[in-house]
Amino acid sequence: MDHFTTSRLTAERLHEDHLADLVALHLDAEVSRYLGGVRSAEVTKVYLAVNMGHWDRYGFGLWALRTKDGDFAGRAGIRHIAVDDLDEVEIAYAFKRTLWGQGLASEIADVLTGIGLTRLALPSLVGLVYPDNSASRRVLEKSGFTLERSAMRRGGEMVIYRALRDQSSPPARA
Ligand SMILES: CC(C)(COP(=O)(O)OP(=O)(O)OC[C@H]1O[C@@H](n2cnc3c(N)ncnc32)[C@H](O)[C@@H]1OP(=O)(O)O)[C@@H](O)C(=O)NCCC(=O)NCCS
Repeated sequence: MDHFTTSRLTAERLHEDHLADLVALHLDAEVSRYLGGVRSAEVTKVYLAVNMGHWDRYGFGLWALRTKDGDFAGRAGIRHIAVDDLDEVEIAYAFKRTLWGQGLASEIADVLTGIGLTRLALPSLVGLVYPDNSASRRVLEKSGFTLERSAMRRGGEMVIYRALRDQSSPPARA
């Protein structure tokens, strides 16, 4: 699962060489508005180490995304997260601002949902979104997530979406 491709994107397991691209992404205030705010280079360095550790522990995590011409596009993935003290697996995505509005988040969200629910056979995936992040809410809805409830996180209200594995579908063979 270290690499995969979609129609318009290539995905690479997050590694040290992605640091500069991630720093630039996280320093964009518009991109980081719904990600907890702008992150300094130092904070993103820790973020990268934590997310590489997630891969080592679970065998999945975040991927760096590139357009087919090789340019960095953003990052996305599935990762464990504690929600109200329960261990959940969330779907996450963030794209460079210049690439918004082309359906790329919807494209990667569909693939990630398939990886999580079919390939990894997880019972469900969640999406945690600030209520006014309408574009992200729409992306989740288009990938089959439904609104579950609101929750307080990081001192603010977030909404939780969930997609359930179709119990009639057996897990895909690795
Ligand atoms: C949220 C984000 C990933 C969306 O990426 P994107 O590639 O532009 O999304 P898509 O083009 O696949 O789809 C967006 C959908 O939301 C809709 N949308 C966009 N802005 C909207 C708005 N302000 N209100 C309602 N719907 C909106 C689009 O019309 C589209 O729906 P459609 O296909 O039915 O027309 C992107 O804006 C981003 O990276 N934001 C910063 C990081 C972030 O917020 N990540 C999510 C954290 S939960």
